[in-house]
Amino acid sequence: MEFHVRIQACRQTVPFPSEARQQQGKKDYLCSLNEKTVIRAENIHKSFGNLEVLKGISLEISKGEIVSVVGASGAGKSTLLHILGTLDKPDLGTVNIDGSEISGLSEKSLSDFRNSKIGFVFQFHHLLPEFTALENICIPAYIAGNGKAEAHQKATELLDYLNLSERMHHKPSALSGGEQQRVAIARALINRPAVILADEPSGNLDSNSSVELHALFMKLRETFDQTFVIVTHNKDLAAMADRELRITDGLIKGGSVAENSAI
Ligand SMILES: Nc1ncnc2c1ncn2[C@@H]1O[C@H](COP(=O)(O)OP(=O)(O)OP(=O)(O)O)[C@@H](O)[C@H]1O
Ligand SMILES: [Mg+2]
Repeated sequence: MEFHVRIQACRQTVPFPSEARQQQGKKDYLCSLNEKTVIRAENIHKSFGNLEVLKGISLEISKGEIVSVVGASGAGKSTLLHILGTLDKPDLGTVNIDGSEISGLSEKSLSDFRNSKIGFVFQFHHLLPEFTALENICIPAYIAGNGKAEAHQKATELLDYLNLSERMHHKPSALSGGEQQRVAIARALINRPAVILADEPSGNLDSNSSVELHALFMKLRETFDQTFVIVTHNKDLAAMADRELRITDGLIKGGSVAENSAI
């Protein structure tokens, strides 16, 4: 079986990097790709008490896109990301992720859906301190029902891809900030999510580590056609995205689905 990945920028089909390992008979779970449109949100409203934070946001995000979400502090960026990530519910409006209408899912289905379809990366890595890098990465795979051998194989492959193999048995406290964030990204990737939602992922990193992390997002998109929605105050990261969505007064500027769609 041949595995290929689409390089978004030039729309060429190129061999998957680990194809050689495939041909040696190694199973490579990273190769299976999702072909669908990823996020469609319509008319999202959200208030906290009297504070109307989101006032009717609509957007559409395609597979393989990197979209940044920017805006002043308090504009509602994290609120929107939490709603897109099914961590919070809108007061009004609909969210469709990878073809599933979120409002139709029960709590149990929603948590399974979230674990398998959405990867989260936050400003602070939120790794569990008592577990090693390898163990932290495996957790979403265990929750998804993978056995230990399967989860370890996936995590080991990701650690290798992220140049972290030598740090796999270290606990988070023994990792640098950049390494901790890469482990958090590996944890977000292990179930091959439809989208990675990142909230100020380089907000706690020095400038060199930030540049490396931003380059990693680009590489993951090129290699795996990974979709990202990234909330950021970092101008460089926002500029690297395919599109920048700016939240102002509870709306995305020109916030119709058509205007915010990739194509
Ligand atoms: N659970 C909550 N209860 C009450 N108010 C909230 C809650 N969550 C967010 N808010 C308020 O909603 C507004 C938007 O918050 P949000 O965290 O989305 O902003 P943000 O754009 O992510 O800001 P920042 O750039 O500072 O992270 C803020 O005024 C915040 O205080
Ligand atoms: Mg925020």
